[in-house]
Amino acid sequence: MTRDAPDDWYRLSATAVRVPPVGPDAIYCTLFTREAGFAELAEAELRSLADGHVVEPGVYLSASPIRWAEAGFGTGGGRQLAFATTLEELRAQVAALDLRTPTFGIKVRRVPRAAQGSQAAKKIIADCVTGDVDFAEPRLSLFLIVSHRGFRLLLEGDPGDGRWRDSAHKPHNLMIAIPVRIGQAMLNLTARPGDSLLDPFCGSGTIPLLAALAGLTAYGSDISAAWVDNAAANIAHFGAQATLRRVDARDATQRADCIVSNPPYGVFSHLEADALHAVLRNLKRLSRRVTLVSSEHLEDALVAAGYAISRVLTVEPERFERFIYLTSVPLA
Ligand SMILES: C[S@@+](CC[C@H](N)C(=O)[O-])C[C@H]1O[C@@H](n2cnc3c(N)ncnc32)[C@H](O)[C@@H]1O
Repeated sequence: MTRDAPDDWYRLSATAVRVPPVGPDAIYCTLFTREAGFAELAEAELRSLADGHVVEPGVYLSASPIRWAEAGFGTGGGRQLAFATTLEELRAQVAALDLRTPTFGIKVRRVPRAAQGSQAAKKIIADCVTGDVDFAEPRLSLFLIVSHRGFRLLLEGDPGDGRWRDSAHKPHNLMIAIPVRIGQAMLNLTARPGDSLLDPFCGSGTIPLLAALAGLTAYGSDISAAWVDNAAANIAHFGAQATLRRVDARDATQRADCIVSNPPYGVFSHLEADALHAVLRNLKRLSRRVTLVSSEHLEDALVAAGYAISRVLTVEPERFERFIYLTSVPLA
């Protein structure tokens, strides 16, 4: 012991953080948007990150953890320590966990906001934990979810890198740019670690930027020289790297492990049937995994061009309906 060790060193060392170890039955809980128009896409995205299921609107349970800030629609989460339908049950379960820590904080999320009992549940948890409350820099971060189903206590998990969210504020924005959380979800549904990705209708560069921020090799192209310049400036603004070219998508030659894109669909510009068919025929040569979003039905054009559609996800049917086509290109 050094001369200037704190007087209470023995008390601190006796109360190191103590939580139940991760066992084979560990359950992870991820919160995601409750906006109805995005539920299908959000659930599909979470499934692509960890096998699991939705237990109630906005709550996803899985057997492995999700770094929720890397999901377009994730809003929080961690390892589930307790789930109780009543306050009495909650008290018994949390007491049995015997949580010990020098300091702890409890974040509360009501799902939906009208869910009752959060104050009482928080007090019960605080009473059952051995340690002092410290909301600024807690050694143990607890997360309480209160819903109509009951009370879930989580050990807050690693959120991961949520830098992609910054790309909602690009210096050069295009009115018809893809909303970043939809772009991020499409990326998660399509790309694998280490992939190269091409967006042949890159506009302001949203998708190549998201890909670069996720550590992929990003390529983008667009028919408009001005938008290629703007996309380059946007990507440089975030310190990310992508290779960009002015190319008509009908003539693009850049191959990639996957393509994620939103071709023009009726808002200010539109691809005529012939042009769409020529684009689809060309993209098929460039990648085996192609995900496109459109507010027009592309099923017939995709099938006619030889794509196998593995899934169609509908987004925001009540406001601005879009369809996300996940496809694969069979080997010739
Ligand atoms: C819906 S916008 C893409 C928006 C983009 N995802 C973003 O977030 O900014 C469609 C883009 O396709 C481009 N475009 C239109 N026809 C094209 C073609 N034949 N080849 C390549 N790009 C084309 C337009 O210039 C426009 O930037």
